[in-house]
Amino acid sequence: MGTTSIGIFDSGYGGLTILNKIRTLLPQYDYIYLGDNARTPYGARSYEIVYQYTLQCVKALFQMNCRLIILACNTASAKALRTIQQRDLPKIDSTLRVLGVIRPTVEAVGQITVNKHVGLLATSGTVQSESYPAEIYKLFPDIIISSEACPMWVPMIENNEFDNEGADYFIKKNVKNLLLKDSKIDTIILGCTHYPLILKKIEKVAGKGVHVFSQGEVVTQSLADYLKRHPEIEEKCTKGGSCLYLSTESSEKFRSSASIFLNENIDAQHLEIS
Ligand code: DGL
Repeated sequence: MGTTSIGIFDSGYGGLTILNKIRTLLPQYDYIYLGDNARTPYGARSYEIVYQYTLQCVKALFQMNCRLIILACNTASAKALRTIQQRDLPKIDSTLRVLGVIRPTVEAVGQITVNKHVGLLATSGTVQSESYPAEIYKLFPDIIISSEACPMWVPMIENNEFDNEGADYFIKKNVKNLLLKDSKIDTIILGCTHYPLILKKIEKVAGKGVHVFSQGEVVTQSLADYLKRHPEIEEKCTKGGSCLYLSTESSEKFRSSASIFLNENIDAQHLEIS
């Protein structure tokens, strides 16, 4: 019998920060991680392209027998999730599920902020989509949210150039810009799954009074809750504890860069997407 894995998708390596947490809390399931590294970053791409690329990857994961997929990418969650859920899934198979990372993040942050002044650091695409302000407004209309796009951060991280002075310059610039937009911010959302790698640097610039929030744990918790609330989906997920890593880039390139995110050596396979 084949495995029915939970699919975890990101434009690149960032989703590995989410996968890490998910596998720690829910080690029993089988997973397939797919990074669209050949076409990353998605951050500055149009709606149409992000949607098209994300849908191709989601379909590839469905073909590998995933029945539940997490878009562990804010840009894809912001620009493609709703259309995939509303337009594509009913046509492909209405029993399949695709979930994103924005909603659980907003639910958590609404409970964390004390003074209701929240900041968002994310890709240009996520900021332009206004998905975070829209979601915040729905759930917590009294929260004031300010956003700052950080277009240099994903390329810096994907290329392993985040631990040097050049990176420090951009981190400082964007975090300071955000705090200039609203000096009362007490909670900053890291609205990109790549950013936990530079969490410490962001915290240092933001200062002691600001809670810098990364999504890994809440996304994991919300997946756990989802599986509890949907036994019909949970029982279809096979429990062999495996993880298959796929990349649209070469497997060698993925393997060497992924180790920065995972602190372990992994065996990745190349996947051709069309
Ligand atoms: N990890 C993606 C996110 O959470 C990065 C987007 C990109 O490829 O620019 O938004």
